[in-house]
Amino acid sequence: MASPRRTLSQTQEWIGTSHRISELSQKIHFYDQWASDYDQDVGILDYQAPRLAVDCLASAFPSPPQEALLLDVACGTGLVAVELQRHGFCNIHGVEASKNMLELAKRRGLYQQLSLCILGPQPLPAPSDHYDAVTVVGALSDGQIPYTAVPELLRVTKSGGLVCLTTRANPSNLPYKEALEAELDRLEQAGGWKRVLVHIVHQWERATSEQEAAGSAGSNQGFIPGIIYLYQKQEATPAKGTGV
Ligand SMILES: C[S@@+](CC[C@H](N)C(=O)[O-])C[C@H]1O[C@@H](n2cnc3c(N)ncnc32)[C@H](O)[C@@H]1O
Repeated sequence: MASPRRTLSQTQEWIGTSHRISELSQKIHFYDQWASDYDQDVGILDYQAPRLAVDCLASAFPSPPQEALLLDVACGTGLVAVELQRHGFCNIHGVEASKNMLELAKRRGLYQQLSLCILGPQPLPAPSDHYDAVTVVGALSDGQIPYTAVPELLRVTKSGGLVCLTTRANPSNLPYKEALEAELDRLEQAGGWKRVLVHIVHQWERATSEQEAAGSAGSNQGFIPGIIYLYQKQEATPAKGTGV
C-alpha cells in the first residue's frame, strides 16, 4: 500500500537520493523500497517520460500496433505499458531488476510476459530478432542500465524494428548521457541501426534541487531537460568485427 502523499520537497529529496546512487545493487534495493510509492512520487515530480516516449514511438510506428510484439526494458510498475495500451499496443513483454517493482507491473495486468532481469550483468531473456520495438524509459543513467548494454537491446529487436530510449540531461547525468550518445553513434556507424529522431524535451521532470535546475540548459522553470532517442534496426547484417 502507498504511504501518505509526500510533499514536493520531500519527493525531490527522495528522488535526488535515488539519482545519487551509482551502484547497481544499491539502486535495485532502493527501487525495492520505493515500489509502493513510485507512481505517486513520480506524479508529484511531473514525470512525463512514459507518455512522451510512447507518443514518439507510436508516431513513427510503421504497422498496426495490435500486430506488434514489444519489449519494455526496466518496466518498473508498468507506466510505459499504460501509454502503449492507449496507442493500441497490446502484446507487451517486460523485464525489470527490482522484484517489488515487477510485482506491481504484474498486478497492472497489461504485460503478457514479465521477467526478472538485471540488464548489464545479465542478457535479456529473449531470442535475437524477436521484438518489433523495444523501449527503455527512465533507466539509462549511472547505477541503472550501463550504456554498454545497448547492443543487447539491438540484438533482440527485429530488422526494421524500433528502439526507443530516454535519458535525463540534467548536469549530474551529463557524463552518462555523453557516453550513451557515443555508443548510439558507434552502433549507427557500424550499420546496426539508423537514427529516426532525437527529441529534446525542456520540461522533462521537476529538478530534485536548485543546482540541477539552475545548471540545466534552456528556460526550465524548475524542470530538467530529457531526451528521447528513436532508432530503427537495419536490415543488413553488419560486417564481422564491427562489435555490434
Ligand atoms: C525510473 S524507473 C522507470 C520505470 C518505468 N520505465 C517508468 O518510466 O516508469 C527505473 C527502473 O529501472 C529498473 N532498473 C534499473 N536498472 C536496471 C537494470 N540494469 N536492469 C533492469 N532494470 C533496471 C529499476 O528497478 C526501476 O524500476
